[in-house]
Amino acid sequence: MIIEVTKVESLLQRHERKKNSLLAVLQDIQDEYNYLPKEALQIISKHLEIPLIDVVGVATFYRAFSLEPRGKHMCKVCLGTACHIRGGPKILDEVEKKLDVAPGQTTKDRQFTLETVNCLGCCAIGPVMVVDEDYHAHVSTKQVDQILKQYRKKGKGKK
Ligand code: FES
Repeated sequence: MIIEVTKVESLLQRHERKKNSLLAVLQDIQDEYNYLPKEALQIISKHLEIPLIDVVGVATFYRAFSLEPRGKHMCKVCLGTACHIRGGPKILDEVEKKLDVAPGQTTKDRQFTLETVNCLGCCAIGPVMVVDEDYHAHVSTKQVDQILKQYRKKGKGKK
């Protein structure tokens, strides 16, 4: 992806030029691009006078940030103990098959990024699959295709 330097610079203007602005700046960049482009990290590094290696260190520490382009929709399958017992791995297999990606990967059409999680705090409704902000409860393998289609059709999501 080619980023607009001026856009990154204008996002930087929203924050004080201090090292402790780093997290907020990264959040803004992540919100804008849905990931943290390398070029943006270089600009941030220069602007905040923080070595690039430290900027990357922070960016990789937090799971909310991604250094790889993400899909329009985040699809998370829970593999925590309760969901695992109730068939979480089968749900994951089905999602992998339908999207043709492994966890951590994004579909070629950039529609979905698949992730696994270890408990979403709603074990009673497992197995749970979350797409964007929507929790899908008691998911069966038969429902997976239907659920994914809703997002392809409606174009729900951030961008
Ligand atoms: S184990 Fe899946 S929500 Fe807790």
